[in-house]
Amino acid sequence: MMKVCKAVFPAAGLGTRFLPATKAQPKEMLPLVDKPIIQYGVEEALAAGCNQIIMVTGRGKTAIEDHFDHSFELERILEEKGKKDLLKVVRQISDMIHVAYVRQKEALGLGHAVLTARELVGDAPFAVLLADDVIDAEEPVLKQMMRVFEEKQCSVIATQIVEGPAISAYGVIDAKAASSNGRLYQVYNMVEKPALKDAPSNLAIIGRYILTPTVFDVLTQIQAGAGGELQLTDALKLLLKQEKMYAYVYEGKRHDTGDKLGFLKATIEFALKRDDLGGPMREYLRGLKLN
Ligand code: G1P
Repeated sequence: MMKVCKAVFPAAGLGTRFLPATKAQPKEMLPLVDKPIIQYGVEEALAAGCNQIIMVTGRGKTAIEDHFDHSFELERILEEKGKKDLLKVVRQISDMIHVAYVRQKEALGLGHAVLTARELVGDAPFAVLLADDVIDAEEPVLKQMMRVFEEKQCSVIATQIVEGPAISAYGVIDAKAASSNGRLYQVYNMVEKPALKDAPSNLAIIGRYILTPTVFDVLTQIQAGAGGELQLTDALKLLLKQEKMYAYVYEGKRHDTGDKLGFLKATIEFALKRDDLGGPMREYLRGLKLN
């Protein structure tokens, strides 16, 4: 049985939607409350059993590498000041994972980013997590998907129902129900960012994938697609000609933190869930005179 140990994080995007905040700082490092966005994804990958993390980065992304590395100065200062709790938090991050980094030299699209990780992934199935999609779930979404992978032994993608014109911001699948609980679908086709009238369903692809290594071969065959970029969706569509694929309607709430409003909503919801901040935050929100 194939096991999934590696998780790829495409993190080379320029983050133009968050300028000027992202001028000198990677968007993946923007904090949701007090944790950088990408750390939520890394923790999810670990919880799903992926202990080898591969980050596809680019210029201006060294803060990500520093974040997952030891910080001798900071650790020494915290130690000297006896701030044991903070020291633990800081050490946990660097002790958490084994990370390999590879650079995507040109921003040619998500498909190209995944292909850049080919040598580090090798010939085994692997996960891809788009860190912008932060999913709050009782059981981490990638872990939910691992169960499907273990049973089906083929690629599995995460999906969510999106109604109306908003569907055009996603990859959309054409699929048939494959379980009685409405969560599992077999995928037959897919299209990246279709107009509403061309969307084959209301099932949008969300940024969690478990893929077989065959995807690397098809990634070398695709042409630029939606937005002039090499799209992962186009490669997966080709992969369907060779292998079965399933889509899983996960349990959990997804926040699109790549979008300003989505980022703000996630910040508020995550703060409300915190033991230390939930009460005062709730009180503050109640006191706002909204009309
Ligand atoms: C990417 C994928 C798209 C998917 C989306 C989920 O698009 O290309 O298929 O639906 O992530 O977040 P992006 O949001 O990077 O444009």
